[in-house]
Amino acid sequence: MKENGERENEKVEKTLKAGEILRKVKKELPEIVKPGVRLIEIAEFVENRIIELGAFPAFPCNISVDRDAAHFTPKRGDERVLKEGSIVKVDIGAHVDGFVADTAVTFDLGSDMPKLAEAAKEALENAISVVRDGVDVSEIGKVIEETARKYGFRPVYNLTGHGLERWIAHAKPTIYNYPAGKGVKLEEGMIVAIEPFVTNGIGKVTDRSEVEIFSLPPEVAGNERALKAVRMKQAREVLKEAMKFRTLPFAKRWLKKAPEVIISRLVREGFMRAYPVLAEVSGGNVAQAEHTIIVEKDAAVVVT
Ligand code: CO
Repeated sequence: MKENGERENEKVEKTLKAGEILRKVKKELPEIVKPGVRLIEIAEFVENRIIELGAFPAFPCNISVDRDAAHFTPKRGDERVLKEGSIVKVDIGAHVDGFVADTAVTFDLGSDMPKLAEAAKEALENAISVVRDGVDVSEIGKVIEETARKYGFRPVYNLTGHGLERWIAHAKPTIYNYPAGKGVKLEEGMIVAIEPFVTNGIGKVTDRSEVEIFSLPPEVAGNERALKAVRMKQAREVLKEAMKFRTLPFAKRWLKKAPEVIISRLVREGFMRAYPVLAEVSGGNVAQAEHTIIVEKDAAVVVT
């Protein structure tokens, strides 16, 4: 029992530290998330700041613009810049010894739909307000959808919040942004990320062809035998380098040398997972808000 308690303490302390670091980084974001700034500058700023402050990025800084909802991170040498009128989701994660905090904010750079970011933020606040030991995830989803609808928008139905486990950025339980998952309950001590996405489109995202974010499946991460199973030397070297991220997602630009053909081969053969950019299918704009929370008996502690 005692050992268990200590492990629980470590989990909470390190997650809180990761969260505190993300809070600091978030405070600095308005200075840099502006029209004319290159996306790569923002991503590198976030990732470097997380390290300077004493953690590591738990996944690449996601900067998804307008109809892109998630999983966009710039590539090495990316020249793309933020434009006036855009809706920009910045989703960031930090970990301390594998204990992850995950948070996202939306910046409205003068779009014609400023209520979208407001709706996402309010949906998150309302969702957090119903969290307690034993709350059904469908209750959280209900609050999120109702808030989105109140504004005349919809949630994104196929993006969800999630649990956070050591070295795992997306664990169980799944927290839908609409009333689903009935019977699954949050329990005291659980650490989860709630992340409503709100859109003026139909509320569904699908893969685009662009992909810059990858991870290693649990059966591959840290498995010397998996490494030996890769026949091609160049592919083996890429995989070996990727193993330092364990099971956490990484960006292609984080690898020293990762030719497109090698990466696709590793993905095809099941040694790597790809996370393509997810865009709203009807071309709707998307806003997002996300916090990591710890479930307590009567409420939630907001970590980020
Ligand atoms: Co998340």
